[in-house]
Parts: sequence; structure tokens; C-alpha cells
Amino acid sequence: MDKILVHGGHPLRGTVRISGSKNSSLPILAAALLTRERCVIRGVPDLSDIHYMLTILSHLGCEVERASGVVIIKAERIRTEAPYELVRKMRASVCVLGPLLGREHEACVSLPGGCVIGDRPIDLHLRGFEALGAAVRVQGGNIKLFAPSLRGSSVSMRGSHGTTVLGTGNVMMAAVLADGITEIHDAAEEPEVVDLANFLISMGAKIRGAGTRHIVVEGVGELHGTDYTVIPDRIEAGTMLVAGAIAGGELTVNHVRPDHLEAVIAPLQSAGFHVESGAKSVTIRPNGSVSPLHLETSPYPGFPTDMQAQMCALLVRAPGVSVVTDHVFPQRFMHVAELSRMGAQIKLQHPTAVITGNGSLSGAPVMASDLRASAALLLAGLAAEGVTEINRVYHIDRGYEHIDDKLNDVGAKIERVKA
Ligand code: UD1
Repeated sequence: MDKILVHGGHPLRGTVRISGSKNSSLPILAAALLTRERCVIRGVPDLSDIHYMLTILSHLGCEVERASGVVIIKAERIRTEAPYELVRKMRASVCVLGPLLGREHEACVSLPGGCVIGDRPIDLHLRGFEALGAAVRVQGGNIKLFAPSLRGSSVSMRGSHGTTVLGTGNVMMAAVLADGITEIHDAAEEPEVVDLANFLISMGAKIRGAGTRHIVVEGVGELHGTDYTVIPDRIEAGTMLVAGAIAGGELTVNHVRPDHLEAVIAPLQSAGFHVESGAKSVTIRPNGSVSPLHLETSPYPGFPTDMQAQMCALLVRAPGVSVVTDHVFPQRFMHVAELSRMGAQIKLQHPTAVITGNGSLSGAPVMASDLRASAALLLAGLAAEGVTEINRVYHIDRGYEHIDDKLNDVGAKIERVKA
């Protein structure tokens, strides 16, 4: 298995180009199942999660072509079953349920299984499908959906941890071809939901209110092909800004939507960094010492759970006590034990980490356990004294396109050791 060696202590200077959004691309690729016509999707990052999704779509009968960020999908004739061997690798494979149900009125997809960031149920997705008229059965590890017809309905996406991003997308995808009007209440407001809605609208769907908590979908008879570009990845951009903050120097991220980054920029400014937004770029530079913070994750437009681990790595460097609470995924603190191996002082009482910043970190062998936790370890390595050896780097490759090359181009010293 590949490893990454991070030689700490090198400030970052220059500009990093941010890739297209992984979390937009995954449901958008699945949404191409909704038409027999050709969909051209641009800005799709080269990541293993994207590869898994394309494998599932090929299995479902799609013709898939891919070349440098452009994916072309033609779903002329499709089947409706996706087996466990394909689905188990990535939880986002549940995104095919909505479009299969919407187009074929049936789906049989293996349950994606557990995940290290805690129990990740899909009850809210299924509740939405039922509201549209689908019968839901779980049998032999598979979710089976069947609906003689789909009719518009009123559905709430609210669960005990707030709303659901992929659940909102799944119900939207199932509703675009249903008879009548579907009202989605307590919808996720994430930019990725808006991107999916815009993709569907470009295929002829009628959707209003995406980006608010109340989305209205008016069903249409059929959808057509499209040519669409996904939004930039706000989590990659946020991670790079924290890389700049932790390593020092002056770093610019470009090809970004600064309006999508406000919840990340605000705490970086509160921690004492100078952060400046341009039309499509954001620049960060140090402005004296780093201050501790109290941070709580919440659905968009709040501070994203996908940036929590990276901010923990930064706050280890802030003298004083920081308190970080994750309300969205209360168990998502696998990075804490590994950061502690690098000298961090963190007390964990789920869903809160109390970090006593001491300014210093030392390189150590550490284990990546999930995507964002691995990014946090890489960032910590940039600031640590000596060498940080990150094992199981396939987690990083699931979500960051060429992260080692991008950081090396702006002054980091990161080696990838092939197994
Ligand atoms: C998406 C993102 C992920 C991000 C998360 C929250 C993708 C591919 N992934 O995941 O990177 O961390 O949003 O911003 O876009 N829940 C239920 N029942 C459900 C569904 C979710 O209880 O049916 C709970 C989850 O366990 C969690 C919370 O709701 O506590 C939010 O999860 P959700 O928004 O669904 O996350 P994803 O859409 O899977």
C-alpha cells in the first residue's frame, strides 16, 4: 500500500488550482441515469470515488467515456440492480437509488454498509421514496424499491442530526419524473444540492428553491441530454487554505467560489489569519499569532463537518484552549488519536474535542482512517518537526486530486512511496 512522507517545516507560497467538486460530481453522474440521451459532464475530478461511481454506472448499462476531467454518459438501456461488490466501496453509491426509481420505477441496490465516521443510516432517503409511492424492502442486504407509479408528495428530510445532503438529492432525482408536484421540506442547502438541481434543470427538470430549505419539484414527462460543468470543490479549497495557514507563507487558491467558503474563511480570520477574497480566488497569510477557537459544525451555511478534522490540526498550533464540536457526525474524531501521536493535547468527549494548543508537533508514523482525517494528518505533517509517515493513503486519494503534487508545487516536501 502506498505511503506518504511529509517533511515538515516548509512554508507554502504560490497558487493552487482547485478541482471540480467530488460531492457534486457523484450525484450528478448518477443523475445521468435519468435520460437515454448523452450527458457531457465537465470538471469531474480524477479520484477513486469517481472511478467507483463510473464502474457502478457501467454495470447498470451506461456507456461511459472519460478524458481529462470530462465524462460522457449515455444511459440508453439500463438495468436496475447494483451488487454489494460494487457498492460496498463507497457510501455515495446510494445516489443511484433516486434516478433508478425515477426512471424505471424500481431499484435493487446493496446496502453500502458501515463506515468509520459512525453509523450512517439512509432512513431519510427511504422515507422520501415511500412518500413518492415506492414500496421499500430490505432483503438479503439489498434495498429493493418498487413503485407502480410515482406521484408528487410532501416530504421532510429532517432527522435527528439535521437534514441530509445525499437524501435531499436522492428525493429530488426520484421526483423529477414523478406525476405532479413534490415539496421537499427541511432540504439540505449545500451548494452541491444546488449544483445537482442546476444539472437536472439543464436536462429539462422543473425545480425551484434549491439552496433553501424548501425545494419544489414539478414532475415532467422526460429529460434530455445536457452539457454541464460542476462547481469547484469547496472542501478541497478549504483544506488548502488550512494548509497555507498551518505551514505559513502566502497561499492563494483559485478556480473557487469564495461565496461557498464563507463558513471556513470566518473562523480562519477569527484565528488571526489575513484572508482576502477575489472574484474566483482566496488568499491566506499569517497575521501574527494563532488564536484558539470555539467551533461547531452544522449543515450549510454553517461550518462544514468535512473541514472539522483539518481545523483541529490547525488549532493544535494555537496556544490556549480550543473547543470543537461535531453535531453532524458526532463520532467523526478518528484524527484525534493520530494527532496525539504527533504531540497534540486533545481530550475527546464525543461530540466534542478540547484542544490545548502548544504550538508544536513532531513527525510520527500515523494511520489514515477516513478521507478528512487523513487530510488533517497531512496538514499536521506540514507543520511538524521531522517526517510524518502517513499509511493507508488510499483514503486521501478518494477525495483529493493529486494533493501531494499540488502542495509540492507551492513549496511542500511530500514524497509518495509506492508499495
Ligand atoms: C454528504 C457528503 C459528506 C458530508 C455530509 C455532511 C457526499 C458524497 N458526502 O454525505 O462528505 O460529510 O454530506 O455534510 O456528498 N442521516 C440520517 N439518516 C439518513 C441520512 C443521514 O440519520 O437517511 C444522518 C447522518 O448519519 C449524519 C447526518 O444525517 O449524522 C448528515 O448526513 P448526510 O447529510 O446524509 O451526509 P451524506 O449526504 O451521506
